Amino acid sequence: MEAPAEDWVARYKKVRQQTESLCRPLVAEDYVVQSMPDVSPTKWHLAHTSWFFETFLLTPHVPGYRIFDEHFAYLFNSYYVTVGDRHCRQNRGLLSRPTVSQIYDYRKYTDDAMTRFLSGLTSSQQSELRSVIEIGLHHEQQHQELMLTDIKHVFWVNPMRPAYKARAQMPAAELPPMRWIDFPEGVHTVGHEGPGFAFDNESPRHRTFLEPFRLASRLVTNGEYQQFIKDGGYKRADLWLSMGWATVQQEQWTAPLYWIEQDGQWLNHTLSGLRTVDDSEPVCHVSYFEADAYARWAGARLPSEFEWEVASESVPIEGNFVESEQFHPIALAHRSQSPTPSQMFGDVWEWTRSAYLPYPGFQPPTGALGEYNGKFMCNQFVLRGGSCATPQDHIRRTYRNFFPPDARWQFMGLRLARDN
Ligand SMILES: [Fe+2]
Repeated sequence: MEAPAEDWVARYKKVRQQTESLCRPLVAEDYVVQSMPDVSPTKWHLAHTSWFFETFLLTPHVPGYRIFDEHFAYLFNSYYVTVGDRHCRQNRGLLSRPTVSQIYDYRKYTDDAMTRFLSGLTSSQQSELRSVIEIGLHHEQQHQELMLTDIKHVFWVNPMRPAYKARAQMPAAELPPMRWIDFPEGVHTVGHEGPGFAFDNESPRHRTFLEPFRLASRLVTNGEYQQFIKDGGYKRADLWLSMGWATVQQEQWTAPLYWIEQDGQWLNHTLSGLRTVDDSEPVCHVSYFEADAYARWAGARLPSEFEWEVASESVPIEGNFVESEQFHPIALAHRSQSPTPSQMFGDVWEWTRSAYLPYPGFQPPTGALGEYNGKFMCNQFVLRGGSCATPQDHIRRTYRNFFPPDARWQFMGLRLARDN
């Protein structure tokens, strides 16, 4: 059944307003900085998400639509080769113009046009364009998360270590001991099943066989990860994949990203400023290489993405998402002694040992939006479950996030698994 036109308008406004509300703690200078090639300036995110609606909905479907600025397609196209040439990604932070104020004007212009467009959709247009409108909204939510992870890095490279949002540090929690939860062998059906939106990479739904496995009842914590560090985890080649060990040497990693050792104590940079590392919180900002090495040290392994998905079926989609406004993973309360795994949703994206690959029968859509996911299915690993920067209504059990194995700047952590 189609949602009535006014629901589209309300959903559109809600998502767009949420993006701008995340910018409220920022000042104009914060919007411009690109602290490393993976990071985009906040103002780029604000413009790129508007460009997305302009390019994939307004220009092709609104007769006589006039684009806001002829330069913006070049500046704010991210990676859509089919759409045209684009500005070099690593140079996004070199642009003082367009100004932040001009980009907010661009958003307003796009919002007015989108509101008119969505209000006037015929039912046949709704059927035809539903998936593109959904992609536009979910795309903007993905960029909301990136805005937070990117500004965290921007503040990290600033010796003043500004805080995005003040937050009282919680007292360290008493944690439930980690338990192993057994899952039997069997043939399982995985992947997205409608109704409701999903990205193309979550389909087709298909069968997969799982050997019996055990999954940890909770995430690996900072306290546990410090044991790995103390045990020489970053100095023992035998714990690492070859590429991981080379990365440790090259990058001189000795701890997760954002950790600093001061007077024998670990501190970490958070969106609320520099904090003492809380042993009871989930470890965060570790790469696939670190997650894999930790798991090996712990006599375990990372779960496959399908083990994770099957285990998540008994778990409600609840947790510490962006709506909690913690902007940081939080410790599991002792209350949680559920027979099902805890912390599967929210807090940190969980690395899996699954390479990011197409599902059997996968076909990307034709046209430029076919470039959204499919062309990245090489040299990346799947992460599951969302983080403290993910909107709750953005995540699904079948959602596949993906990053290269050396990426650390997203809210990334891990849960252990074992063969049974
Ligand atoms: Fe994008």
